[in-house]
Amino acid sequence: MNKNSILIVDDEESIREVVGEYLSSLNYKVFFAEKLKDIKKINNVDIVLLDAKLPDANGIDSIKEVKDRFKQSEIIIITAFEKDAKSAVKALKNGAFDYLVKPFKFEELSAIIEKALDKVDLKKENERLKDKIEIINSGFHGMIGLNSEMRSIYAKIEKVAQTNLSVLIEGESGTGKELCANAIHTLSGKKGKFITINCAAIPNHLLESELFGYEKGAFSGAVNTKKGLFEEADKGSVFLDEIGDMPLELQSKLLRFLENMEIKRLGDNVSRKVEVRIISATNKNLEQLVEKNLFREDLYYRLNGFVIKLPALRFRKEDIPILVKHFLNKIGKENNKRYTLKSEALKALLSYDYPGNIRELKNILQHSALMSDGTIACENLPDVLQSQSSHKRYAKPANNLSLGKKVEEYEKEIIVDALKRAHNSKTKAAEILGITFRSIRYKIAKYKIEI
Ligand SMILES: Nc1ncnc2c1ncn2[C@@H]1O[C@H](COP(=O)(O)OP(=O)(O)OP(=O)(O)O)[C@@H](O)[C@H]1O
Ligand SMILES: [Mg+2]
Repeated sequence: MNKNSILIVDDEESIREVVGEYLSSLNYKVFFAEKLKDIKKINNVDIVLLDAKLPDANGIDSIKEVKDRFKQSEIIIITAFEKDAKSAVKALKNGAFDYLVKPFKFEELSAIIEKALDKVDLKKENERLKDKIEIINSGFHGMIGLNSEMRSIYAKIEKVAQTNLSVLIEGESGTGKELCANAIHTLSGKKGKFITINCAAIPNHLLESELFGYEKGAFSGAVNTKKGLFEEADKGSVFLDEIGDMPLELQSKLLRFLENMEIKRLGDNVSRKVEVRIISATNKNLEQLVEKNLFREDLYYRLNGFVIKLPALRFRKEDIPILVKHFLNKIGKENNKRYTLKSEALKALLSYDYPGNIRELKNILQHSALMSDGTIACENLPDVLQSQSSHKRYAKPANNLSLGKKVEEYEKEIIVDALKRAHNSKTKAAEILGITFRSIRYKIAKYKIEI
């Protein structure tokens, strides 16, 4: 169990010793400060026992300062003087929880502390609820979703952001890998920039000069010296998007850079040290690429210091309603309109598999909002969802067919439907149907399905 913590701020050594020992015996974690300025060295505490008269300050006048330092704490003022109404009122007015006069009985102290802790616990619980509501409304750094896997991902992001580990984010297209990378950078508190490098979009021959920079005259066209993206991101983060598409030749150069964090601009003899956190993302299976010798194994192990796997939307359908609400609000704000959704339309949205994940859901809602008069109905949804609902009940095969042939007819229709839903991706259609890639390929050939 989490121990509650108490800070005793008192210049009198005997008080610190006796009260400290008593509170430790009650299993509280106790911290001490002799002067007001010493509280800066202490992290967070639940209760502060604050002497009214300190060598460097008046305790009662310092209540606000102490509360600012320990946001969720409660303060109990301790004074050597007979309780005079005026200072008691002032202490309470300044935000103290209560007021104790020396010498006090231990039972009196522990009773007040317990009451104050009830209030602290309530405040903490409120904070937790507020965080939860915040996640429902505006998400975790823009990531909407309360599914348990997503919540554990938010916790992972918070933890790993504080470290310097290389993070590899895996997930199908449109699952939010870039949002996740952004959240890691924001929470890391790094002062440098967040720089995205799309390894699939930069032509091979430019990637090296983009990453490492070049000196004037290094090649024809290098009219000015240019810093590379790694140098631009110094003291910040580099997001290597679609890392699975990085050409092998460049992979070795990247690995060399990661090993010593030194860059040499093209055409330059000087090595420069930089400090960057590497976040990479892929929608490919890097392990498989390693097996096929398309991705360097040593680089793979460098990049996957910490792996975050984002679930496909079809595995967290319970989040669809809040995602829908979020996107419709956003689209509404952009168009100065209010959008609502008929329950039949929500039902159709819930039964779709989203091979393009959250990006696809967002596009579907944009399309539907545009086609609607403000109330989105089934007929406003795009064709992929329409065909899915009409295909749900498959046409009955002709009666004169044998059982085997009837089953085959059904099977063909189901495969055609899955391919349509997967936008003709065999891999995704196989996933939707829960069969292997080989078997869908075989069946497509068998039934002569045209893609
Ligand atoms: N959890 C989420 N909550 C709200 N919006 C999201 C969420 N995840 C993704 N999005 C939105 O979906 C779109 C795609 O997200 P993002 O670009 O981060 O995905 P990705 O995994 O990088 O996709 P790709 O592999 O295609 O590059 C963006 O518009 C993003 O804002
Ligand atoms: Mg992306």
